[in-house]
Amino acid sequence: MAADIRKSYGELNAVDGVSFTVAEGEFFGILGPNGAGKTTTLEIVEGLRQADSGHVTLLGENPWPRNPALLPRIGVQLQASSFFEKLTAKEQLLTFGSLYGVGDTTAMEMLELVGLGDKADVREDRLSGGQRQRLSIACALVHDPDVVFLDEPTAALDPQARRNLWDVLREIQARGKTIVYTTHYLDEAEILCDRVAIMDRGRILAMDSPATLVRGLDAPTQVVLQRGAISTEQARAINGVEHAYEDDVSLTISTRKPAPVLSALAERGTLDGLQVRTATLEDVFLHLTGREYRA
Ligand SMILES: Nc1ncnc2c1ncn2[C@@H]1O[C@H](COP(=O)(O)OP(=O)(O)OP(=O)(O)O)[C@@H](O)[C@H]1O
Ligand SMILES: [Mg+2]
Repeated sequence: MAADIRKSYGELNAVDGVSFTVAEGEFFGILGPNGAGKTTTLEIVEGLRQADSGHVTLLGENPWPRNPALLPRIGVQLQASSFFEKLTAKEQLLTFGSLYGVGDTTAMEMLELVGLGDKADVREDRLSGGQRQRLSIACALVHDPDVVFLDEPTAALDPQARRNLWDVLREIQARGKTIVYTTHYLDEAEILCDRVAIMDRGRILAMDSPATLVRGLDAPTQVVLQRGAISTEQARAINGVEHAYEDDVSLTISTRKPAPVLSALAERGTLDGLQVRTATLEDVFLHLTGREYRA
């Protein structure tokens, strides 16, 4: 899909040699902190920005310069979405949809899909931030495109709205669509994506399924107990424990053999309030960049 694309703004290499291919029906995530180059990459692939160099193929076509053959087949939600003024949610969708000959029924179905069925007649400027976000996703989907691009669709949503949106995204994928989306929530990408590209400073540092990336770290599992449950010496004596250290409230044990360590703890009756933490994509980011991930 993208081969060695580059884009500079003055001295800044916003996208610095990025290549990836997304399979049909795949849920592909581009992850990274603010300024990593996610939006620039996405908009080059969508045909909204011109790369300085490199090559993009989208559904077999070149998206730049603006390619009318592609427009009905792709759906685009921009990071900063804008609507027509003073129209209701349903009118917004119908206006977008009419460009592609989409009727009333489909528009209503899309509103239902994103959970805005009861807001059809509410003016766009009277929707909450999260509701506007969901409306902009409905607008990107209304003409039933094959490939959907979403730029941080879950940013600025409350936890409940974020989870509702995850269901929407899964539903879209279940309908056979290809989804390319950006996020700075690594935990979310880990749950949703088939494959992710971790970007930082214009480059892709790693690209694979979240599980493979995490497994590749070979990081120990952290078992956290209440302080005082057992002493650090007792913890270190358990077979399979690599490290044990205490702070004011807890005792943290790291191990690559969590099963025998947990059964040893169970035998000692110390499971109350126990937490088990396995490595996540944030640990992958830390490993790749040497920096803590701050979204
Ligand atoms: N039109 C522009 N003109 C100049 N610099 C730009 C422009 N667009 C982006 N940049 C710069 O390019 C870099 C990458 O920006 P981009 O918007 O692609 O990042 P991002 O990963 O989408 O970040 P965010 O998570 O904040 O959306 C940033 O440093 C940004 O300041
Ligand atoms: Mg962005």
